[in-house]
Amino acid sequence: MADQLIIFDTTLRDGEQSPGASMTRDEKLRIARQLERLKVDVIEAGFAASSNGDFECVQAIANVIKDSTVCSLARANDRDIGRAADALKGAARGRIHTFIATSPLHMEKKLRMTPDEVFEQARLAVRFARNQRDDVEFSAEDGYRSELGFLARVCEAVIKEGATTINIPDTVGYAIPELYGEFLRKLREMVPNSDQAVWSVHCHNDLGMAVANSLAGVKLGGARQIECTINGLGERAGNCSLEEIVMAVKTRRDYFGLDVGIDTAQIVPASRMVSQTTGFVVQPNKAVVGANAFAHASGIHQDGVLKARDTYEIMRAEDVGWSANKIVLGKLSGRNAFKQRLQELGVMLESEGEIMAAFAKFKELADRKSEIFDEDILALVGDESVTAEKEQYGLISLSQRSETGERPHAEVVFTIDGVEYKGSADGNGPVDASLNAIESHVKSGAELLLYSVNAITSGSTESQGEVTVRLQNSGRVVNGVGADPDIVVASAKAYLSALNKLHSKADRVAAQG
Ligand code: KIV
Ligand code: ZN
Repeated sequence: MADQLIIFDTTLRDGEQSPGASMTRDEKLRIARQLERLKVDVIEAGFAASSNGDFECVQAIANVIKDSTVCSLARANDRDIGRAADALKGAARGRIHTFIATSPLHMEKKLRMTPDEVFEQARLAVRFARNQRDDVEFSAEDGYRSELGFLARVCEAVIKEGATTINIPDTVGYAIPELYGEFLRKLREMVPNSDQAVWSVHCHNDLGMAVANSLAGVKLGGARQIECTINGLGERAGNCSLEEIVMAVKTRRDYFGLDVGIDTAQIVPASRMVSQTTGFVVQPNKAVVGANAFAHASGIHQDGVLKARDTYEIMRAEDVGWSANKIVLGKLSGRNAFKQRLQELGVMLESEGEIMAAFAKFKELADRKSEIFDEDILALVGDESVTAEKEQYGLISLSQRSETGERPHAEVVFTIDGVEYKGSADGNGPVDASLNAIESHVKSGAELLLYSVNAITSGSTESQGEVTVRLQNSGRVVNGVGADPDIVVASAKAYLSALNKLHSKADRVAAQG
């Protein structure tokens, strides 16, 4: 019988550490539900001790997710572990994931601790965590750059204290596949009680090898858990990408001989949801989930695929959920059909009021756009005016005038804490004028780092434009996303959404800080 490979998704924790990718509680809940539909084994829901907001997110996810294990990160101290345990109280299956750095560089320069102190703190942390929960994971941060003998001593001790999973991260993405796999193999050999824990890999993508390193950790090093994120979301160059790992292990089962429990048809919907929520666009040539991943452009390839699919296709597009791109609703669809589609998409609006607001938005959109796709619905419910969260800024209306040879002018009516304001300004183009109009009143002082527009569904100029705006202020970087068939309106929505994020979350402690 083949072994099972555990898929540990950390989109909501390590993925969210990516500058600008911070998500609201409702957004995280929606993604957690999609991860459950995807059948990931473990969902790392956040870092409960890092802020009250994160605590509430972990708690909310722990209370609703039943089929996947819900996990919270915690530094190796009693306070963090206590917060994680409290947040996980309602979980059907909960895991505490505690970590401390073990590389000479991190111990000396960051922690300012001796190896003996780190050893003792790791041991006591796992002991404390095991008093709260049966399922405890220990991570040796910067594990790959640690000294093997010391790391083996720490792993042996934490397994003795009851750690059930041992994770050896390549925190800075420095590893090379063969070397990482060998490192893990040797380490496991040096740990006398290694068979009493599941070994896990967690690779960052700084040299573009996170997926290759993780697979080498499995094949050569004997790991049976991979930590990964949807679309490879994560700090710097990101984490190991879930979709690539899963499809590699499934497509090359002849080589890996491992089973994964993932429902692969949910991969593309998950990818879209994460991309639309965070504003991190998926590159068209990205493996598995990129728009071109299954598009055959050359005549020879098209001819081959028409004659026999497997001439050029090693996976089937529908197996990873590409067929989800279908017309779902139109102008005549009723409230019940809309509600049912929301349920199928895993969108749980919390009150009747929210469903009514979303339905009104849907009708408005259907008047302007004849075919409504799943992506349109997801964009629409991501709109802050239909979610329960009380947002500071909201768009009421926008008008703009642009004519060849004239400087464009815009007037934007918006609310701040429920009070209506009107801003007007000129700009280089209608988008610039609209954002200037908002700023003429708000005076946020934020720096615009990125502005991008994408068509939500391809193939027609009738598509909604999805705009991402990245703002920076006082060291905080946030992304705002807005969608509308009118890209100037989408831009204003995205700008206000970014302002909401800039002014909402309290500062949090970074896991690798
Ligand atoms: O990259 C890393 O080392 C981590 C740990 C906190 C698990 O994310
Ligand atoms: Zn990490």
